[in-house]
Amino acid sequence: MKTLIVYFSYDGNSAVVAEELKKATDADVLELKTEDEKVRTGFAKYAWGGKQVLTHARPKLKPYTVTIEDYDRIIIGGPVWAGSPAPALQSFIAQTRISGKMLGLFICHGGGKGKAMDKFKALLPGNIIAAEIDFINPARLDREAVAKQIAEWVGTL
Ligand SMILES: Cc1cc2nc3c(=O)[nH]c(=O)nc-3n(C[C@H](O)[C@H](O)[C@H](O)COP(=O)(O)O)c2cc1C
Repeated sequence: MKTLIVYFSYDGNSAVVAEELKKATDADVLELKTEDEKVRTGFAKYAWGGKQVLTHARPKLKPYTVTIEDYDRIIIGGPVWAGSPAPALQSFIAQTRISGKMLGLFICHGGGKGKAMDKFKALLPGNIIAAEIDFINPARLDREAVAKQIAEWVGTL
């Protein structure tokens, strides 16, 4: 079974998850990058990101080549922004036909995921959500523990 990992990460947490997933699955990896690469911090970052969610913005992604049809299993993940999957993930889902796939979804958040996972799943109808998982800022957690949790989770996919 061929697996693709697709992720977006603004502050590196989802990147940690993607890296450990890669080790546990040997899947192909697609990192989503937005055209806008300006680094924002502090309040400006939350205000900018929150506004994107509220306005349902779909930031433009840097071009990538991936043939979704080549994969049976797709793991998609990234951060929660203002209680929703980050806009960049939504851009990817909006511009890619993902249907009839076995999906694993992950989200990273700061402890207030709200209904982000439900919203994530609602964006992907017509697929089987085989497994889902969330992490609280995994880049700050013990790396070995995160790796172990991910390896176990992959086993449920
Ligand atoms: C614009 C913005 C909005 C956020 N909104 C939330 C939120 O609603 N709930 C939450 O728990 N964390 C929120 N966070 C924190 C991130 O989800 C969290 O730090 C996550 O681990 C970041 O993943 P990343 O490092 O892969 O970007 C927000 C972060 C940003 C930048």
